Amino acid sequence: MSYEPQHKPASEPPATTVQLNHTVVHASDRQLSAEFLAAVLGLEVGAPFGPFLPVELGNGVTLDYYELRDAPIQSQHYAFLVPDEQFDTMIARLERIGVTYYADPSHTEPGRINRLFGGRGAYFDDPDGHNMEIMTRPYARP
Ligand SMILES: [Fe+2]
Repeated sequence: MSYEPQHKPASEPPATTVQLNHTVVHASDRQLSAEFLAAVLGLEVGAPFGPFLPVELGNGVTLDYYELRDAPIQSQHYAFLVPDEQFDTMIARLERIGVTYYADPSHTEPGRINRLFGGRGAYFDDPDGHNMEIMTRPYARP
């Protein structure tokens, strides 16, 4: 089986214009989790949209918090590129609400940040154990 497109219409725009628009974030309490992320990152929780409670990011991607009541929530990883001048404020917010941050994704270096790619970064758990990351420089990928 091949995933190569068989026929690509000439009028189709380049694939690089495709953007992530939204994704669903499972939560045991959508209000709590959406407010947690919004509070740490300095964002707004949007109006409920059916079963979803949205938090819109600066690049137009929406995180739709969705309550999962009867199944365990699998931890996912969400990484946020944040302005350098807001990084310290976000770390201070985590400290104020008593959420431990770590320099590494495996959470072995508590209370520390990393300096990857010439920027600063940290990891922390959301209320359901999603592994959140804030970073001021995107990964330098080969
Ligand atoms: Fe990451």
